[in-house]
Parts: sequence; C-alpha cells; structure tokens
Amino acid sequence: MKKKIKGIILAGGKGTRLFPLTLGTSKQLITIYDKPLIYYPLSILLLAKIKDILIIHDPRDEKAFKNLLGDGSKLGVKISYKAQLKPNGIAEAFLIAEDFIHNSSTMLILGDNIFYGQGLKEKILSSIRENIGATIFTYKVQNPSQFGVIEFGKNNIIKSIKEKPKNPNSDNIITGLYIFDSNVIKYAKKLKPSKRNELEISEINRKYLKLNKLKAANLGRGYAWIDAGNPDNVLEASNFIKIIENRQKEKIGCIEEVVFRNGFINKKSLTKLISKYPQNNYTYYIKDLLKKI
Ligand code: DAU
Repeated sequence: MKKKIKGIILAGGKGTRLFPLTLGTSKQLITIYDKPLIYYPLSILLLAKIKDILIIHDPRDEKAFKNLLGDGSKLGVKISYKAQLKPNGIAEAFLIAEDFIHNSSTMLILGDNIFYGQGLKEKILSSIRENIGATIFTYKVQNPSQFGVIEFGKNNIIKSIKEKPKNPNSDNIITGLYIFDSNVIKYAKKLKPSKRNELEISEINRKYLKLNKLKAANLGRGYAWIDAGNPDNVLEASNFIKIIENRQKEKIGCIEEVVFRNGFINKKSLTKLISKYPQNNYTYYIKDLLKKI
C-alpha cells in the first residue's frame, strides 16, 4: 500500500538577517533570480508527488502567500495556511500542524531551503518509501557550526546530532528537509524550549535516533543545497539558478512544470492557467513545454 504523506513548508520567522528586505514582506517571498523563494521548496514537495500542503507563516504574511498560491487548485493540489505567532522553533510546526498531519507521515521543508541535482526526485521518493520513522537529508559544508551537525561512525551509522556546535566533530550537516511518521506530534509535545528558547528539530531527530528509527539520506557532491537566509546566500542562490537555467534552458523550481509533468493538471488546465500570465520569459518557458509534451 502507498504511504499517505502530507507536506509542510515552514515559512515563518522574521527574516532578521535579511532586514530591511524583510521589513515589508516575508523572507520566503523575496526574489531568487526569476521566482519567489518559496517556489523552490514548494517544487520539492511537488516533486515528491505530495498533494496536500500546509504553509506555516508569520501572521503578517497570510494575505501575501494566499495571493501568490491561493488554495492550490490551479496546480491540482490543496494548499492550506496556518500562522505561527512567534518563531518558537522549527519543531513547533508539528504542534501547529497537529490536525493537518492527523495520522499521516509528513515531509517538512524549510521555506528558505533550495535543493538541486540530478536524481533528487528519485532519492526523495525512495526515502519516503523506505522511511522507518524519520529521515533526514545530509550534506557536507565548509561551515558546519552554523547548522545541525551529524556525526557518522563505521558503516555510516549515525553517532550523534548536535545543533550548531562550537567545535563540530564532522563536516556533515542536516539540511532543512525531513520526513517523519505521525509519532512526531507526540514527541514534539514533550519538547522543552532550548537555551535559545526554541523547540529544536535536532531534539526530535535525536529522539528517533535513540529509538533506532532515524535514517540519513546523503546528498553527495552532485547536489546543490543553499539555505537562503542571508544577503550573500540570496545572491549566490540567484546566480546559481540563473547560470543553470540559462545554460540548460530548463527551469529550476517552476511549479507549473512540476505539476504538469506529475499529471496533477492536464494540458487544458495549464493552458488556461497561463492564459492569465503576462508575456515574459517565464510564460514562454511554459508555452514551450506545452508544445513539447
Ligand atoms: O537550514 C538547515 C538548518 O535549519 C539545520 O541544519 C538546523 O539543524 C536547523 O535548526 C535550522 O537551522 P537555522 O538556524 O537555519 O534555522 P532558522 O532559525 O534560520 O530557521 C530556518 C527557517 O525556518 C527560516 O526560514 C525561518 C523558518 N522558521 C524558523 C523558526 C525557528 C520558522 O518559520 N519558524 C521558526 O520558529
């Protein structure tokens, strides 16, 4: 039987590292080359064939997100919204989403995380199929102390998980993409705020590790992962997307393309959808696709 899985995009927070960009709008709505940032994590959930998606946002930004994505029906999916009153930590997402998750598994993605690489879709789909509790996606970076750090032992056994350690014992970090079974709600309810006053996702991951139910899917050197949380990363992400898109004539994070290729919407619905779009390169790209497929 196919596992039931829902998607959550955590798109709250104040985006203070991006101030004053975030003074009037959400971080997840700022520009990454030719689309709003949230298109990239949303396209990952769509690539994973997830059709029921919850966006968790700062109360101020509800209208802006709804203007952008509506109820998802144009994309052949269901998108709902819930506010997080304050950035109390990533793990609070499971408390906010309790009714939404109910007894399904969840794929959680942070609204500022961009993933790219050949075979990513297959990797995510197989991770969903093989999930035994929780699955994290790991990546090697130069500055591990800014992230959740994961230490591997012999035979890739997970030895430890530490949130932003001063002296990291590994270059491998945990990216902002996670799969959890429905027990995550139970574990989130038991969390106490950390020293930095947040409900920590790393504590949830450690709980699954203790129960021997945590898997790590490594995104090796063929993958790009960018956490677009500060001005340098935003610029780097924009440049990266521009280079790949212009060289290969393929878009990254084009949500209309993903849902069309998934069969969530047909040719007629996509044609109708883009008939309302202005004539620009984004629309021409989708028009081209309609001719090719
Ligand atoms: O990006 C991967 C890293 O994300 C992981 O390696 C860490 O283990 C994890 O704790 C997290 O660290 P960050 O320091 O990057 O998390 P940050 O506080 O920047 O939040 C990430 C995104 O989630 C950001 O776009 C805002 C959103 N967020 C965050 C918190 C704490 C919320 O919407 N609500 C929140 O309460």
